[in-house]
Parts: sequence; structure tokens; C-alpha cells
Amino acid sequence: MIRFLRLGFLCLLVGTDLAGAQFPRACCTVEGIQTKQCCPALGSDPGNVCGVLTGRGSCTAVRVDTKPWGGWPTKFFNQTCRCNGNFSGFNCGQCKFGWTGPNCDQRKAPVVRRDIHSLSPAELVEFLDILDLSKNTVHPDYMIATQHWLGLLGPNGTEPQFSNISIYDFFVWQHYYSVRDTLLGPGRPFRAIDFSHKGPAFITWHRYHLLSLERDLGNENFAIPYWNFATGRNECDVCRDDMFGARDPNNPSLISRQSRFSRWGVVCNSLDEYNRLVTLCNGTNEGFIQRGVMEQGSNMSLPTMSDVRSCLGIRDFDSPPYFTNSSFSFRNALEGYERPTGELDETVNNLHNLVHSMLNGTSSLAHSAANDPVFVLHAFTDAIFDEWMRRFVPSNATFPDEMAPIGHNRDYNMVPFFPPITNEEIYMSSEQLGYSYAIALGRLSYVFLKVADTTFLIWFCLNSGYAGDVRLTLYSAFLPLSGPKRFTARNQSPIHSLINTPMYADTGGK
Ligand SMILES: *[C@@H]1O[C@H](CO)[C@@H](O)[C@H](O)[C@H]1NC(C)=O
Ligand SMILES: *[C@@H]1O[C@H](CO)[C@@H](O)[C@H](O)[C@H]1NC(C)=O
Ligand SMILES: *[C@@H]1O[C@H](CO)[C@@H](O)[C@H](O)[C@H]1NC(C)=O
Ligand SMILES: *[C@@H]1O[C@H](CO)[C@@H](O)[C@H](O)[C@H]1NC(C)=O
Ligand SMILES: *[C@@H]1O[C@H](CO)[C@@H](O)[C@H](O)[C@H]1NC(C)=O
Ligand SMILES: *[C@@H]1O[C@H](CO)[C@@H](O)[C@H](O)[C@H]1NC(C)=O
Ligand SMILES: *[C@@H]1O[C@H](CO)[C@@H](O)[C@H](O)[C@H]1NC(C)=O
Ligand SMILES: *[C@@H]1O[C@H](CO)[C@@H](O)[C@H](O)[C@H]1NC(C)=O
Ligand SMILES: *[C@@H]1O[C@H](CO)[C@@H](O)[C@H](O)[C@H]1NC(C)=O
Repeated sequence: MIRFLRLGFLCLLVGTDLAGAQFPRACCTVEGIQTKQCCPALGSDPGNVCGVLTGRGSCTAVRVDTKPWGGWPTKFFNQTCRCNGNFSGFNCGQCKFGWTGPNCDQRKAPVVRRDIHSLSPAELVEFLDILDLSKNTVHPDYMIATQHWLGLLGPNGTEPQFSNISIYDFFVWQHYYSVRDTLLGPGRPFRAIDFSHKGPAFITWHRYHLLSLERDLGNENFAIPYWNFATGRNECDVCRDDMFGARDPNNPSLISRQSRFSRWGVVCNSLDEYNRLVTLCNGTNEGFIQRGVMEQGSNMSLPTMSDVRSCLGIRDFDSPPYFTNSSFSFRNALEGYERPTGELDETVNNLHNLVHSMLNGTSSLAHSAANDPVFVLHAFTDAIFDEWMRRFVPSNATFPDEMAPIGHNRDYNMVPFFPPITNEEIYMSSEQLGYSYAIALGRLSYVFLKVADTTFLIWFCLNSGYAGDVRLTLYSAFLPLSGPKRFTARNQSPIHSLINTPMYADTGGK
């Protein structure tokens, strides 16, 4: 039985003096913004900045990649706590993922992320209860910025523009922020930057995002479940009232009233309005979760285990230009812009992207998707990545350190996470980060090999011309292939740098 720790625990753990941004509450002050220093004290002694008195860390200049656009979060803070050893957190009050003990020097036994269908009814209710609680509990440590960095202190320069937000909505806000348009000014959204998709950081960003939610939800024995979406079915088997909610019979685009999720409000959905007002999502309720799961008459279906096995055969983590048109890139296959076999075909919509499209509604919009709790689909995406790591044991050099789109190079700090953390720090096996998956994708691939698959595999090994997956071509006929905020959208051009420095950009253009 999973034992959850109540959400208030973190407050006790890291001290109750709270004040901050999508930054720690302690740093969201006029002084914090003006000095660009975010080095909160650990515990009640104000002198114990970054836990310095107990050797946990010290307040130092933020380290950023020197390549163009590697500057997050220096537009906001240029000094943060740098923690020693395995200490971590904005005030060095936590351990790095994968470590435990009072001195963070013991390896943590990995928690096991299990198939949501294998949870007992009691475990399932407990998990949903904790999600609900997180939706209604103010985040103990972090606040969100509601204005761009230039206007962070308000019109008079005296009022920090930050807002409290619930733990779950904080998770939603981070995803929104990572894909949102960069504003050049009123009515001038610049749409081509995406810090968390369409490049190698897709994998590391979402992995860290889930790890952070997992930490915010429970104690160190808590694990989120995963949803194995590779069923090949044309229905969503977690869209039931005892899981993430069935369809409302009276309004098929909403969740059934029998489900608690029918009452969840969405945040950060009105991208056009934020652009018009030149502002950021401030976390206010903007309506309900929408789903259009598997429209009647549509013959789309979810990815198959064969798709999963195919992408696990791709040896290279990513390939130039590290974008949606990379071919034989494991990342691009898993994200869903190339065939699971690695071949490029610009009509393809598979694996991760296909699942978002199938769920339609809120889930299909990149900036809004995390509002729907089915977003745990990312845990299965991560499980596939983990199996890939197990097979290929990649060195960290397989993650590109240059030439990837903005935010996606190996040594870049992932936007908008705080304190800063690079892609490289997360590019390691799940066990090293303190968790594992109760699924053996490797073994499955041999157990379930069918004749057709064997033929396929022989083809794959020979790497000869594959006639094309008819099914995939059919799917794509129903999918919007353009429109900037859908998971299927392929941007015109990967953005590596900008010629004109956008005034409101936040990564420190050079
Ligand atoms: C950090 O920002 C402050 C405030 O803008 C500035 O005075 C200081 O020189 C910066 N420090 C570094 C190391 O960039
Ligand atoms: C974490 O702790 C272990 C055990 O004390 C130690 O071997 C390791 O070097 C530490 N990691 C870092 C980054 O200091
Ligand atoms: C800014 O300062 C002016 C003059 O003191 C005051 O009238 C006004 O209400 C202030 N605005 C805000 C948003 O605090
Ligand atoms: C945010 O929440 C904290 C803790 O619940 C509270 O002390 C603070 O006043 C709130 N701040 C704002 C701006 O609502
Ligand atoms: C939050 O943003 C919405 C626009 O998205 C705006 O209508 C509302 O007034 C804002 N609320 C606050 C408290 O600023
Ligand atoms: C998604 O939903 C929209 C509107 O609710 C609908 O028009 C469209 O056909 C749906 N797409 C799919 C693939 O079901
Ligand atoms: C899928 O739907 C399309 C359009 O409704 C139809 O032309 C096609 O034959 C269908 N394919 C299958 C395999 O049912
Ligand atoms: C990444 O590789 C570099 C050079 O090979 C090495 O110095 C560094 O320690 C590696 N980092 C990790 C986290 O293994
Ligand atoms: C990928 O797409 C970009 C933008 O459309 C284009 O500039 C680039 O040449 C393409 N690269 C490959 C390998 O297709």
C-alpha cells in the first residue's frame, strides 16, 4: 500500500517562511527582484543562507551555458543557492533526486511507478484524492510571476507581480510557460520557441516535470502511476469515472459529472488573451477540462506495442537538426514526429503526439494539456525512454551540446525550472534518480513477437525500404497539420537564435 504524506509536510520540512515567483516565495520581493539574488535561508536562522552554516551550500552566481540563449534564469535572478554534494533545492533543504538521509548521502531505494490498472481500488482512490488535494492546496514554496520580467515590480516599482497557485496548477503553469509564445510587444507573439518539445529536451524536461510533481505530492515513498497508452485501441481505457473520468453523456466534450475531474477548472488556456494584454497566465480558472476522445466514426487508434518496440530499436538519442524533422532519432520517434521506425514522413503523428491528439480537447493543446490529469501519459513516455537507456547505456555525449533549438542543448538550464537544472543532470537512468517502472518493455518485445512483427524486424535490421504504414497515413488525414499550439504542429524553422532580441524574452539573448 502506498503511503502518502499529507501535502503540508513540505512546509514543515523546509521551514515556514515563505515568500517568492515561479520562484520561491522568499525571493518574490522587491529586494529579491532588484538585487537578482535568490538565496533563502534554510530554517529559522536568517544567517543560514543556503544552509551555509551546516555546509549544505552557498549563495553564488548562476551558472549558465555561454552559448546564445543559454541564460535562464538570469533575467530574473543571477545569484542562487549552489548546493554541495547531494543537497538540492532552492535553499539546499532537500536531497537531489535519488538520494536520501539527513546528509543526503544514502542511495534512495527506487520507488516503483506502477500501471494505474494494477492499483487496488483503495490505492487508486488514494491517488486521486491526493491529486484533488494538490489541485486545492496552495503551493507551499513557489509563486508564479504574472507579468513579464520588465514589469515584475508593477507600475510603481513597488509591488511584486506574483501570485499564489495550487500545487497542481503550478505543474500546469510550468508546462504553459515552457511552450508559450514569446512576446515582442502587444500583438506581436513570436511563436517559434518551445523549451519542452520539438528537440532533445522533450525527454529530460518532461522527466523533471513529473519528478517535481511526484515530490510535491507525497513523501519519498510515493510514486505516480503510469498509463500504458500503447493499447492500439480506439478508446481511452483510463477515461472511466473511477479513474480520470468518462464522457459526460449530456455534453460529450466534457467529463462526466460522476467524476471529480468534471469539477477541475483549467488554467493557462487563453493564450491569445495573454498575448493581447502582453501578460502571463495568472492562474485564474478559465472553465472546465475538455475531451473529445475518439470521436464516433473516427478510425484513429492509440499507438501499439509494436510502435513502442520499433522506436526502441533506434540507436541514436537524437539526430541533427534536433527538431521535428530529425530522422532515425529515438527522441523524435517517441515524441511522434517521425515513424516509430525512424523514417521521416511529415504526415506522421504517432506515439506521444498521437495520444495527445486522440484525447483531443484540452490534452491536444500544448499550452493547456497538463490541465487534464491524463497528462500522466508522460510517465509511460518516460518509461519507454528508460528502457531505451537500459538498452543503449548512452554516454552523456549522446545528448547534443550545441546546435539544438533554444533551450535544448545539453548544458542549458531547462526553462522555467528553478533552481536551475540542466538537461544533462536529468539524462541518467531512472534508478539513479530514485524511481523505476513496473514494466519490462524489453522482455515484452520478445514475448509478444508475432509473425508480422518478425517480418517487420527483419525488415528493420536490413534497413531496406519499408512501403509505409498505411494505418499511420490514414490517421494523419484527420489531424490538423498546422496551427501553432497543437502537438502535431511542425514549425517552419527550428529556432537556434534570434536576430532581433525580443524585449520580453527571458533566456538572456546574446
Ligand atoms: C546580477 O544582477 C545585479 C542586478 O541587476 C547586477 O548588479 C549584478 O552585476 C549582476 N551580477 C552578475 C554576476 O551578473
Ligand atoms: C552523493 O553521496 C555519495 C555518498 O556519500 C557520494 O559518493 C557522492 O559523491 C555524492 N554525490 C555528489 C554529487 O557529491
Ligand atoms: C502608484 O503610485 C501612485 C502615487 O503614489 C498611486 O496613486 C497609485 O495608486 C499607485 N499604483 C499602484 C498600482 O500601486
Ligand atoms: C500566498 O500564500 C501564503 C501562504 O499561504 C500567504 O502567506 C500569502 O499571504 C499569500 N500571498 C498572496 C499574494 O496571496
Ligand atoms: C488574470 O488574468 C485574466 C486574463 O487572463 C484577467 O482577466 C484577470 O483580471 C487577471 N486577474 C488578476 C487578479 O490579475
Ligand atoms: C476534436 O474535437 C473537435 C472539436 O471538439 C472536433 O471537431 C474534431 O473532429 C476532433 N478531432 C478528432 C480527431 O476527433
Ligand atoms: C477510416 O475512415 C475514413 C474516412 O471516414 C475511411 O475512408 C477509411 O476507409 C476508414 N478506414 C478504415 C480502416 O476503416
Ligand atoms: C558527462 O560527461 C563528461 C565528459 O565525458 C563528464 O566529465 C561528466 O562527469 C559527465 N556527467 C555525468 C553526469 O555523468
Ligand atoms: C528541417 O527543417 C528546417 C526548417 O524547416 C530546415 O531548415 C532544415 O533544412 C530541415 N532539415 C532536414 C534535415 O530536413
